[in-house]
Amino acid sequence: MALRHLISIETLTMDEWNDLYRLARDIMDHPGDYSDACRGKVMATLFFEPSTRTNFSFQAAMMRLGGSVFGFSNPSATSTSKGETLMDTIRMCSGYSDLIVVRSPYEGSALAASMYSEVPVVNAGDGAHMHPTQTLADLTTITAHRGGVDGLQVGICGDLRNGRTVHSLILGLSKFKNVTYYLISPRELALPNYMLTFLKQSGQKFIEITNLESCLPQLDVLYMTRIQRERFEDPAEYERNKGVYILTAAKMQLAKKDMLVMHPLPRVDEIATDVDSDPRAAYFRQARYGMFVRMALLMTLSKLPRQPEAPPAEKQKGLCRNPKCITKFEPELPALFIGEGEERRCSYCDAEIS
Ligand code: NCD
Repeated sequence: MALRHLISIETLTMDEWNDLYRLARDIMDHPGDYSDACRGKVMATLFFEPSTRTNFSFQAAMMRLGGSVFGFSNPSATSTSKGETLMDTIRMCSGYSDLIVVRSPYEGSALAASMYSEVPVVNAGDGAHMHPTQTLADLTTITAHRGGVDGLQVGICGDLRNGRTVHSLILGLSKFKNVTYYLISPRELALPNYMLTFLKQSGQKFIEITNLESCLPQLDVLYMTRIQRERFEDPAEYERNKGVYILTAAKMQLAKKDMLVMHPLPRVDEIATDVDSDPRAAYFRQARYGMFVRMALLMTLSKLPRQPEAPPAEKQKGLCRNPKCITKFEPELPALFIGEGEERRCSYCDAEIS
């Protein structure tokens, strides 16, 4: 199926990635050639959860292409606060726009939104689940700096349980050859089961460790993430884990001379500011790459013809038990599952069902 919505990086083919990267590179090299590329196109940005970078990056991307933007970053000022469902908000915005960007605290909300939209939907983060356009930014940064992704030793450090950028990044990296993952986290913040199952089933090389310093010398890329305070049910658990990893200029002496330090941002304290002046610190450049690759994505998707909403899928037997799954909040959504037996999981949020 050709690219229409970007809900998970998993469905992006290598050909589609290569096309996006090539286009992003050309935009970076010749920005003036693209200043009218989306003239007349309208993008809706529906941010039901706080955002600075992602929201601004999408807006800047559309403006640099000559298109226009409407949207909100504070749902309390919209009809959601009057009890409007996601279904109705999406149907309405899909009538007004050529493309919808949605961020929500509920997992699976972007897939749900795509089921109600006549125009392409882009997932700008669905709870602790996925964040595919951050992965486009990450892959663009790695490719621009290292010439490619194959064969790299990648350390991913921090809150691997709740970090949606981490889940998407792993799905993105797995499309390349021979990547080794060092998954660095406290045990209680390790990757969710569905991600571990994915790594095992797709034959990826990975190790789970708790210590950053011990693997630092091996790494080609170190992807730091913050401990995601807003996702913790138990404040004591957050208190136990906050500040657990702090990358400093002193620790950077252990790393390869060309290791890339990445971070989706915002940072809290996990990268000391004395790392910022190190030429290996790529995180602010990474945010800029994100804007260019989003430009490539918006150009590609906003030109697609409208497509009438598909008739609702038939409800499957079962109930997702994830309290943050969008199916808990949207009464009209059909229950949908993938896989069999022990591997049966919710199609929206990937939570295991059995
Ligand atoms: C991330 C997010 O929102 O998941 N930020 C971003 O989009 N660049 C990472 C985070 O909030 O820690």
